[in-house]
Amino acid sequence: MRRANRIGLILGAGVAFATPAAFAATASPSAHARAAAALADIQVAISTIMAAENGTTSGPANYVRAAQSAINALVGSKDPAFDPHVPNPGDATGSMGQVNALLDQTATPPYVPALHGVQVNELAAVAYLQEAVKARGLNAFQTASSSALENLEVAEGRTSQYDVLGGMLGAIANTSLAVPDGAPTANGCAAPKAVGYGLHHGWLIWHAVKPGAVSIPATGTASVKKENGMLVLYTAAAPMVQHHCAAHAAAATTKHAAAPAMIRPVADTLPAKRPSLLIDAAAHTAASPALYTAAQAASGKAVYATNCASCHGANLQGVAAPAIAGTEFLKTAASNKYTVSILNTIVTQNMPFNNPGSLKPGEYAEVMAYLLASNCYPAGKTAFPTNPPSSFGTAPLAAQVHPAGTPNKLGVCPVK
Ligand code: HEC
Repeated sequence: MRRANRIGLILGAGVAFATPAAFAATASPSAHARAAAALADIQVAISTIMAAENGTTSGPANYVRAAQSAINALVGSKDPAFDPHVPNPGDATGSMGQVNALLDQTATPPYVPALHGVQVNELAAVAYLQEAVKARGLNAFQTASSSALENLEVAEGRTSQYDVLGGMLGAIANTSLAVPDGAPTANGCAAPKAVGYGLHHGWLIWHAVKPGAVSIPATGTASVKKENGMLVLYTAAAPMVQHHCAAHAAAATTKHAAAPAMIRPVADTLPAKRPSLLIDAAAHTAASPALYTAAQAASGKAVYATNCASCHGANLQGVAAPAIAGTEFLKTAASNKYTVSILNTIVTQNMPFNNPGSLKPGEYAEVMAYLLASNCYPAGKTAFPTNPPSSFGTAPLAAQVHPAGTPNKLGVCPVK
């Protein structure tokens, strides 16, 4: 709902985009088909604008028409910004209509942030193109249309990025949007056994093809391996997602190993002799390893204030972005099965959201220390590592039984 309102507001219209109801008459296209159509509309808008920029000697009427054509391809024929007197080089739904339909569902697949990025950039592009349409003179046209192009190139994106900056190409390359209707899929955490797409929680990890396949598919590829007589194309997101795989596998084995031990004593032994099971479990949670030093957490506080607080709040309580410490965050962490290691991957690869990877490795370690301290984890003698081995931080993030500090009412331990 928020998305639809925002678009309506910016384009100055009450009902801006086709809602799913508008598609109800026809069979709904697959998510892959929508994504591909959205990308094609962006690309045709780009080529239309570029042709107009190169052909400006043909006179204002022509380049102004080109700008309006690009708008048509982006917004689709149901939008008030659409002009039926000018040809639409795209499809009737428009790129933004397709993106909106993909976002208009209750689930939040991993392509959501990337599509939000696409939306924002398409809105900006349309606004510039509307200036271009009204431009008096070549210079004004070129300034506006060049700005529109810049936004559209970001919306088109690149396959090597799977976050908000990946745009349409990044989303198609790294998520379930890659999978054409009816194509075989498999558990992406396992090694590929047959041609198809390996998925985990909506992320695409690999795409396996026959070696003789004429063209490497359009999914972006970070690395290619020969496995089981197939070519296996691993996505840019694969390393990050494989962390999650490991966490899930670990969670699953722990459960299996724990189950018989929990059941048998109740049946076979005297209850009075065996309350220690419960105590063992509690002791296990309490014995959180010390994963960082107090000095790191103190430096991390400043790193956080400069790079993270604007979105996550001065007290980590969540403002524009979700809470990242305290009771609310630990609920999210539990439902997503976050471990310290996964948290570190999120922070080092995706944060700051607007500029991922922009901090120095030492600063990331410090801000991680600050996050752990704020979540009431104990400090110790060993620093949080800048490049943790895969064995590091595999325990699930959890509320601390004996918190290191006094949690405030949000469950956050203030760090000095
Ligand atoms: C420009 C805003 C912005 C900045 C700055 C930012 N974040 Fe985020 N962060 C977000 C958004 C938005 C999300 C949710 C992303 C999603 O749901 O995919 C997020 C998610 C997270 C999460 C995962 C939370 C969860 O519920 O899964 C962590 C941890 C996090 N950020 C830490 C940080 C740290 C540490 C910094 C500073 C180094 C930082 N962020 C800077 C916007 C920001």
